[in-house]
Amino acid sequence: NAIIISASEDVPVNPELYKDLPANIRNRIRPGRNENYKMVINQDIILIQAPSEAGGFYALQTLRQLMPVQSETGKQNLPIRIPSAFIDDRPAFSHRGMLLDCCRHFMDKEFVKRYIDLLAMHKMNVLHWHLTEDQGWRIEIKQYPELTNVGAWRTEKDGTRYGGFYTQDDIREIVRYAAERHITIIPEIEMPGHSVAAIASYPYLSCTGENIPVENEWGVFKDIYCAGKESTFEFIENVLDEVCELFPSQYIHIGGDESPRVRWENCEHCQKRMKEHKLKDEADLHAYFNERIGKYLASKGRILIGWDEILEGGIPANGVIQSWQGEKGAIDAVRLNHYAIMSPTSHCYFDYPLESTDLREVYSFDPVPAAIADDRINMILGAECNMWTEHAPQELVDNRMFPRMLAFSEVVWRYPATRDYNSFYQRVNGHLDRLDKLGVKYGLPAVASAISCQTGDDGTLEVFPKPLLDDAVLKYRIRYGNADFLPWQDIDSVITIAEDAELEIQAQWRSLEPETPLYRRIVLHKGFSRPLTLSYAINTSYPGGGQQALCDGLLGTDSFRDGLWQAVFGDNLQATVDLGTVQEINSVSTRWYHYANAWIFRPEKVSLEVSDDGRKWKPWKEIQAPLSADHDSQGAVEYSASGQPISARYIRITGHSLGKCPEWHDAAGSPSWLFADEFVIR
Ligand code: ACM
Ligand code: ZN
Repeated sequence: NAIIISASEDVPVNPELYKDLPANIRNRIRPGRNENYKMVINQDIILIQAPSEAGGFYALQTLRQLMPVQSETGKQNLPIRIPSAFIDDRPAFSHRGMLLDCCRHFMDKEFVKRYIDLLAMHKMNVLHWHLTEDQGWRIEIKQYPELTNVGAWRTEKDGTRYGGFYTQDDIREIVRYAAERHITIIPEIEMPGHSVAAIASYPYLSCTGENIPVENEWGVFKDIYCAGKESTFEFIENVLDEVCELFPSQYIHIGGDESPRVRWENCEHCQKRMKEHKLKDEADLHAYFNERIGKYLASKGRILIGWDEILEGGIPANGVIQSWQGEKGAIDAVRLNHYAIMSPTSHCYFDYPLESTDLREVYSFDPVPAAIADDRINMILGAECNMWTEHAPQELVDNRMFPRMLAFSEVVWRYPATRDYNSFYQRVNGHLDRLDKLGVKYGLPAVASAISCQTGDDGTLEVFPKPLLDDAVLKYRIRYGNADFLPWQDIDSVITIAEDAELEIQAQWRSLEPETPLYRRIVLHKGFSRPLTLSYAINTSYPGGGQQALCDGLLGTDSFRDGLWQAVFGDNLQATVDLGTVQEINSVSTRWYHYANAWIFRPEKVSLEVSDDGRKWKPWKEIQAPLSADHDSQGAVEYSASGQPISARYIRITGHSLGKCPEWHDAAGSPSWLFADEFVIR
């Protein structure tokens, strides 16, 4: 008959609610301030009590979830039924956020508002808005019009222009929209690194003063703000003046991550500043920089947040650390008496593929590092999930964010007594019906299928597909040689493959458009499943399938993380194949991976030796393939040897690793990777 919402005093945590929890967990409950509510639902009334509008708002979000999903469309037939309930609810953490990178890809205003709605619905209260980057400056600054005339636009490799920005009117509208939904927007203005777009607009901001274009590649770049020139600080302070006008948030994020110091090392202004202030190295100069910005923000009544790199050299007074490189940043910050926000890559990077961070992984996240003492837990304000968008334009963001955000929002709202993933997953399934009605284009909760293989009779390969989601249905299709794919088929149990083939396995889950199928190219060559001796210990990060990986018949794909590639770090890779008997060898093709950005370099030389007894070796072929500066290419590279056939029982294949990243590479001198799969012997 009525929904009554009334104000109430903030009540202490009701001990009854948590009485079943062990003391160490009970002590870790860190309620958000004034965001709690109580709700009574019976056949006469819905009564909501909350100490603040936010609490009342969260009660309504709960009520919304108790309504039939049909109600999301506004086409619900009356009467509707909801269960009777008594709910006493409050968040575990006061900072429950999501980072949205609107720089790598620009997101339009309506899309940002839509995310604010989705966050609010899941009782999150922070949108960390990443607004400046190497690849685009997205916030209008009246005093520096070139930031958006120039810095908001990049020329892509194909010559097209890409970009966009938010006017100050847009921003005020979005900030207001968020506030109405109890969401604080924390703007991130990156400094001193990730600032190529600003430097492209105003070249005097860098150490060299050279003209550079807005970046059109992803990565970490050398040109950063000069910490020596006063004009840099004048610029940043003027920008922050306008930022603080637009954003009422107590916190202003200044980035601070991934700032190479090579320009500072070679800049007369930076070096002069270091001498004047007796700074012993460039890390101290970064600390000086942060200290100045921190003081400036403090003078405006604001508090600085920075990524964990700002701990190097010393953290400014009051600064809050956002810990992304694991938990260490937060642990160090708390030790130094600073607040911390958790975003470790292990659980909070929703741009990462499901292979590394699936729904179960996110649900297992504990925002409080185990190393934080019980009496310091209140120093962990909460956590954020990060949506970096190098590989996700606007239309893919739902797919990356959902359903992972469901796990995340529960993690920051409700500190776990125990987390029962299966029970959570059931609730997720129900909730996805609601997201369907809202048009959320969520992706899979986990990698849907896997295969295991074994050698069958007569040199066949037996493939055993396995659904990894209980409710996924798998199909497969296959093609032989250059023929077309045969039609999709249901999977019985085993797929037996007797000749070279390409296999695709696809999962159907809910009504999702099937995603990219699992793909395997299978080559049943002479070396297939023959014993291999390796010169190296198998790397635990890239085992590639173990001892037999290089002759298991399955060829590494375009992704070096596919589980098929085997890798050696900083050393050569040598494998000896025993064919069992002396045989004629017509060709050997060796496959390698190249991706300089990931420190993976194809070998410059591959040598092939043969032997009849495995003791006396004779050189057979040597393939030279010199490497020039190659920053861009990524994928498998094949080196083959053929010509006069040779007879032998053993073949020894050596890939000569660069050993170290070459001179032309950003990480010159650091150990390099060598990746191989597979060695095909015909
Ligand atoms: C970050 O991912 N560089 C904060
Ligand atoms: Zn400089």
